[in-house]
Amino acid sequence: MVLIGIMPAFTFALGTWQLKRLKWKINLIDELEEKLELQPLALPSKINLSVIPEFVFRRVALKGRWDHAHTMLLSPRVREGVHGVHVVTPLVRENGSTVLVDRGFVSKDFVASLDSKREEGEVEVLGMLRTSQYRNRFTPDNDPDNGMWYWVDVEGMANYAGGEEARVQPVFIEQIFEGHAGEANTRLEKGIPIGRAPTVDLRNSHLSYVITWYALSGLTAFMFWRVLKNKQKSPGRRMPRFG
Ligand SMILES: *[C@@H]1O[C@H](CO)[C@@H](O)[C@H](O)[C@H]1NC(C)=O
Ligand SMILES: *[C@@H]1O[C@H](CO)[C@@H](O)[C@H](O)[C@H]1NC(C)=O
Repeated sequence: MVLIGIMPAFTFALGTWQLKRLKWKINLIDELEEKLELQPLALPSKINLSVIPEFVFRRVALKGRWDHAHTMLLSPRVREGVHGVHVVTPLVRENGSTVLVDRGFVSKDFVASLDSKREEGEVEVLGMLRTSQYRNRFTPDNDPDNGMWYWVDVEGMANYAGGEEARVQPVFIEQIFEGHAGEANTRLEKGIPIGRAPTVDLRNSHLSYVITWYALSGLTAFMFWRVLKNKQKSPGRRMPRFG
C-alpha cells in the first residue's frame, strides 16, 4: 500500500528532473547552433589544445596538403542505407601544425580504389571542430597496426599520423558538405568523400524520459486511487486517512 502510494510521487519527481535536464539540453543545443552560425575561424599555426572545448562546433577554414599515407578508415559507417567508411586524413598545413580531418563518407565499393583518387596539392577545407567520440561498451578498440578504426580517438589518431615529432596536433575536424542531394549522389557514385551537414547532432532523449515518467506517475496515481476506492467499498473496514 505504501509502495503504491509512493510511486506516483517518485515517478513525478523523476519526470520533473528530466524536464530540467531537457531544458538544459535545449539551451545547450541552441548555444552550439549559434556557435555554428559564426564566421569560420582560421586556425592558428599552433593550436592551444586547452581551449578546444570552447570552440567545439565552430566552423574552421583550413589550407594544406593531404597526408594520404596516413589515411585512417573509420568503419563500419552507414549513410542513408549505404554501407561504407569515413575517411580521416591528416592535413599538413604549410606554416602550421598538422590536424586530422574526417573528409566524410565513402561507400565500401570504393574503399579499395581510394588510393587511385588521391587529391594532391593544396586544398582548402571548411569543417567543424569536434572532439573524440563517445565509445560505448560494444565499440571494439581501435587497432591501428591493422588499419582498423572504429571510433574517433583523437589522441590515438594523432599519434598514428606521426605525433608531436611530426608536428601533428590532436585536433579533429569534420569536413562540411553543403551540396544538395544530387551532388551527394554524384560523389557517392564516384567514391568522393561526402562530408557532413553543419548541424548540431547531440542526442536529446530527455523528452521521451519526461513523457515516460509522467505517464508512469499518472498511471500509478490512478492505480492508487482505485485501490483506495475498493478498500472504502469493502464492508467493515475503514481506510486510514492519508496525508
Ligand atoms: C592556452 O589557453 C589557456 C586558457 O585560455 C591559457 O591559460 C594558456 O596560457 C594557453 N597556453 C598557451 C601555450 O598559450
Ligand atoms: C608560410 O610562410 C611563408 C614564409 O613566412 C610565407 O611566404 C607563406 O605565404 C606562408 N604560407 C601560408 C599559407 O600562410
